[in-house]
Amino acid sequence: MLGFVMAKRIFLAFGVLLLVGIVGIAALAYRPAIATVPVPAFAPALVAEGEILAAGGYCATCHTVRGGAPFAGGRAMKTGFGTLYSTNITPDPETGIGGWSQAAFARALREGISRDGSQLFPALPFDHFTKLSDDDVAALYAYMMSRPAVKAPAKPNDLPFPLNIRALQAGWKLLFFKAGRFTADPAHNAQWNRGAYLTDALGHCGACHTPRNALGAEQPGKPYAGASIDGWIAPALTAANQAPIAWTTPELTAYLTTGVSLYHGTAAGPMSAVVHDGLAKLPPADQQAVTLYIESLGQGDSRAGAAAPVLAKALAVQPGKDADGRLFTAACGSCHHAGAAPNPLRPLIALNSAVTLDEPTNLIRLILYGIGAKQGAPGVVMPGLGGLSDADVARLAAVIRRTHSALPPWNDLAKKVAAVRADGPGES
Ligand code: HEC
Ligand code: HEC
Ligand code: HEC
Repeated sequence: MLGFVMAKRIFLAFGVLLLVGIVGIAALAYRPAIATVPVPAFAPALVAEGEILAAGGYCATCHTVRGGAPFAGGRAMKTGFGTLYSTNITPDPETGIGGWSQAAFARALREGISRDGSQLFPALPFDHFTKLSDDDVAALYAYMMSRPAVKAPAKPNDLPFPLNIRALQAGWKLLFFKAGRFTADPAHNAQWNRGAYLTDALGHCGACHTPRNALGAEQPGKPYAGASIDGWIAPALTAANQAPIAWTTPELTAYLTTGVSLYHGTAAGPMSAVVHDGLAKLPPADQQAVTLYIESLGQGDSRAGAAAPVLAKALAVQPGKDADGRLFTAACGSCHHAGAAPNPLRPLIALNSAVTLDEPTNLIRLILYGIGAKQGAPGVVMPGLGGLSDADVARLAAVIRRTHSALPPWNDLAKKVAAVRADGPGES
């Protein structure tokens, strides 16, 4: 009997707690809707400024499906939890952001709250955009509101219960999100601070290059430490960067603004759009600021100054004459052969981070899917070899690691090839 009473009490206590929890979350999540307004015309100079900022934040990349109308949304974004679709941010009153006031637009970008008051998922990088200045939000607003309106209803997200409950994002934000503008670091000059703003706030580079915790939030103690994203590895941009040759200013500038470099290969995969939709379109002064800031992240790099011997070794690589070496020569050697002077259109594989990263993911992706004409250097393509068996792709990756680096072999290669193949080529 006593046990029954106790159980009942505990049950009641649970019920009360649950209710408090639901009421609490609802209270925490509640934000008022912001009324629509007639949107004014904007000064062309402000719209032009907004266009550059929209490139710097590559809004179009996430908000456009391949071949679709710009900014009309619908692009699938796979997360560890399910698939989310970006929304229409053209000024269509029914399906886009037509009639949104600047306050509503600013709240969406900086706090992740839609105009109607509902919580947005952090797939929109509001944890970075929260740092945007008032002037930049105003310019972005002017640009977005002067785009042609496109009627395109949002695609329903494919998220499992309870992750599909938008209100729960309020709990996520409570734990991981701090709203607030960018503040300049007085220990650095104006150019560095400009670079930090463009990288951390607008460019949200950490969204891919900073590792995330189990709930999908960037780990505050590990900025730019490298992370797994969209089926790729986004390498560390700190002194822990694993490219064989240390980055120099000209190399970094070339990589970030053209996507092609002499010693570090191509910006492929998701990094391709970051360069071509984004950094390539920034004014030179801003490009220099980003380069300076990224370079500063790599301070204390132990590889600095040791480029010559590494390059000499890369030029002298021998793939070997055994069966695996012959497979490499047949599959890759016609385009990538050591011995010749470095040519950015035929990157030296031994200098590429795809070979030196702890995980073979990027190399497997490159072998299976190649690099399309739009992704890499203009005028060249690297064909994908998806027709090879998992075992042969694994053999290729193994022989490249063995002959093009002095690092320990990768484990479970055939399994990893199967996983990358199952994941598909991705959208970029
Ligand atoms: C990494 C991908 C990504 C980038 C980059 C991105 N967005 Fe988004 N954005 C999204 C997703 C996904 C959503 C929808 C989130 C949701 O449904 O909860 C969204 C939602 C929005 C919304 C809210 C729309 C609504 O109806 O609630 C606005 C406004 C917006 N984005 C503007 C921008 C602007 C401006 C930029 C560039 C400065 C930008 N976004 C860059 C992914 C992105
Ligand atoms: C959408 C995800 C994503 C975003 C956002 C992103 N990167 Fe990357 N980045 C990657 C991936 C993936 C690679 C590896 C590409 C490859 O090997 O071809 C990469 C590679 C790089 C490299 C070369 C690293 C190496 O050692 O080979 C640099 C430098 C870099 N990114 C800088 C940046 C900067 C600066 C920004 C912001 C302006 C940025 N990235 C934003 C995904 C991203
Ligand atoms: C038909 C010529 C061709 C063949 C064959 C070829 N590649 Fe490439 N590869 C290229 C070109 C061109 C690039 C530069 C990419 C670009 O800008 O399009 C490249 C780039 C690369 C990169 C650098 C990618 C980056 O993200 O920096 C790696 C690594 C690579 N190839 C590995 C291989 C391997 C391994 C094979 C064999 C399985 C191979 N390639 C076969 C032409 C080729």
